[in-house]
Amino acid sequence: MLEPEVRAQLWQRVTEAIEDYAKKVESHRVTPELEPAKIRALLQRFDFQVPVDPREAIDFAVENLWRYQTHTPHPRYYGLFNPAPTTMGIAADTLVAAFNPQLAAWSHSPLAVEIEQHVVRLLGSRFGYDPAHTDGTFASGGMEANHTAVLTALTQTFPESAHCGVRALAAQPVLYVSTEAHHSFHKAARLCGLGTDAVREIAVGEDLQMDADALASRLAQDRREGFAPFMVVATAGTTNSGVIDSLAAIAQIAAREKLWFHVDAAWGGAAALVPELRPLLAGVERADSITFDAHKWLSVPMGAGIYLTRHRDILDRTFRTTAAYMPREAAGLDVVDPCMHSIQWSRRSIGLKVFLSLAVAGWEGYAAAIRQMVAMGTLLRGELEASGWEVVNKTPLPLCCFVDREHPEGPSAAYLDRIALKVVSSGKAWISTTRLGGSTPVLRACITNYRTQPEDVSALVAALDWARQQVRASQ
Ligand SMILES: Cc1ncc(COP(=O)(O)O)c(C=O)c1O
Repeated sequence: MLEPEVRAQLWQRVTEAIEDYAKKVESHRVTPELEPAKIRALLQRFDFQVPVDPREAIDFAVENLWRYQTHTPHPRYYGLFNPAPTTMGIAADTLVAAFNPQLAAWSHSPLAVEIEQHVVRLLGSRFGYDPAHTDGTFASGGMEANHTAVLTALTQTFPESAHCGVRALAAQPVLYVSTEAHHSFHKAARLCGLGTDAVREIAVGEDLQMDADALASRLAQDRREGFAPFMVVATAGTTNSGVIDSLAAIAQIAAREKLWFHVDAAWGGAAALVPELRPLLAGVERADSITFDAHKWLSVPMGAGIYLTRHRDILDRTFRTTAAYMPREAAGLDVVDPCMHSIQWSRRSIGLKVFLSLAVAGWEGYAAAIRQMVAMGTLLRGELEASGWEVVNKTPLPLCCFVDREHPEGPSAAYLDRIALKVVSSGKAWISTTRLGGSTPVLRACITNYRTQPEDVSALVAALDWARQQVRASQ
């Protein structure tokens, strides 16, 4: 433990660094130099043989985080759903680091556990779940929440698999996602012992939504061939293009086929907080489980995934185990030990940053922030079109996929990659490229930051126009 005077100086330095970052990040480059050798050379100083002065160590971290980071909290970061963290979220994570609540056992952290359950019930009700039947768990992120979904779906359909494993089942279990779904389901299939061949990728239509007819016919084929379908996943806000699958249509197929219906609303689920966007999620209330990432559109610091379900007993059936060494003071109380309801065992409080952010902003504060980002998305679409770019995805959410309308050879992946790289290496903004429907190359820009303003949108379009000119000139 450091001396109180040194600690006081450290806290002051840390809070100054946090405030400085919040104030100045927008005037800094968005992207870092990508030079591993330089970073490794910097680290040579720390061989852990000679203790370093704590103030010096903090200064080292602050200086080099500034230098070597893609600044996702920057208003010109148009990226992969990474937010600018809320002030309350930063404060909460700082308190969590200091108080270090242990969320394995309820009795070790009664407040922190109850806060998470409270948030789970209230969030569930935004999706149309009945709070009396809502359960859920916080997770590291969408990956873990989706993994939890696959595990709970397996437990529901094949209860015996909890003991004998999936390899002892009579038929190979298979699950259904669209070709635009997040790849966490492929990872989850590996982690569950199903293997990636068990993930059926259903084609999308021109609108990039899962093709419900293709789903129905693949299901019929799999049943004829002796596979055991158990789960279908719809995405509410795809990573590529922000498209929301037709949740009601997929819910209907899932009900008819007796499949676990999961909605991956990791990003787009935030539409549930905005009354005029809520209809986009019609059908989500029928989901057996939902993934929602607070570290995406609720702008809390990473990581904060949430798994929600309307089956109150399923987490218990999926994860309960007994361990003689675990605390027992809460036995007999109507409470749950989180480690018996989730993948993780010892873990930090994830819910406090969501709780404090919601407590201070309120639903209305979040609705206003999301509306502002949606408005910036609309502005971006308009400015791109006016500058000779063609927006090719259709979503009311603030994510634009676009190509160069004037490029004589049509859109080519290499050409778009060069434009994105020019923008990124200029430090003026961060954008990326992707492929829609697995084939069409596009540039992708998403408004992920509640601080992004019209001048930031214009700066992005100016940077793109400049990059296009440079790339064309060099061809
Ligand atoms: C739709 C969707 N699902 C799941 C994930 C995985 O979430 P995480 O990166 O928090 O694990 C993402 C990540 O962007 C996503 O976009």
